[in-house]
Amino acid sequence: MRFSTGRCTDLITIGNDRFQAKLHSDHIPLPGQFMLARFWATIYPYVNTVVFPTTTESNSFTIEIKNEDQQSQNLSLGSKVELIGPCGQPVSLNKTARNLLLVANTSPHKLLPFAQLALTCGMDVTFLISCKYPLESLDPRIEVHTGELKPLLENHFEWAEQTLMDFKPGTIIHKLLDPISSNIHVLCHLMMPCGAGACHGCTVYTKSGWKLACKQGPFFKLSELKLEIE
Ligand code: FES
Repeated sequence: MRFSTGRCTDLITIGNDRFQAKLHSDHIPLPGQFMLARFWATIYPYVNTVVFPTTTESNSFTIEIKNEDQQSQNLSLGSKVELIGPCGQPVSLNKTARNLLLVANTSPHKLLPFAQLALTCGMDVTFLISCKYPLESLDPRIEVHTGELKPLLENHFEWAEQTLMDFKPGTIIHKLLDPISSNIHVLCHLMMPCGAGACHGCTVYTKSGWKLACKQGPFFKLSELKLEIE
């Protein structure tokens, strides 16, 4: 586990209920990885917040925080953030794919590093979003569709060469996506207290048994996931 200290170097308001904080750091998570962040001093080892980058640079990354979240009280320009990570496995983009489909039902921000990477590689990026979000903050090159996810997926999944979802599909959508499930990665867990495989608080049931989201995920192929425990 890598421990480090990040420093907040910028705060950017987006929409009217959230902001992005830029953290200067020696350790930069790759798309698919996360950091454990601690915004205030405590001796309790599990008081960490799982944070996914929204964008990355060589010496910094940004995270998104809602104004109502406790962490927003502890972040200001220059403040320190204790970091553990990067944790988890990165997800590579398919080098032969020309397009990337992203799907989110709570907030799109955890998938934004994939959009950043795909756009840099010249790929087309389409985002299906079924939640309120300040869309004007997204890169204008991203094609965005909003609404209910099932009809949106029905209209878009057939052409998608690679898909990443921050949305765990139920039985109906799982069946719909079955023909392309090996090209879909799903973000499976957001509660990852230790990030190191120690607490077993992040187990995911897969076709090859129980796995730990913090070590082997947190993104898993949809084709590997089991819906029901046998
Ligand atoms: S978060 Fe503790 S084992 Fe995964």
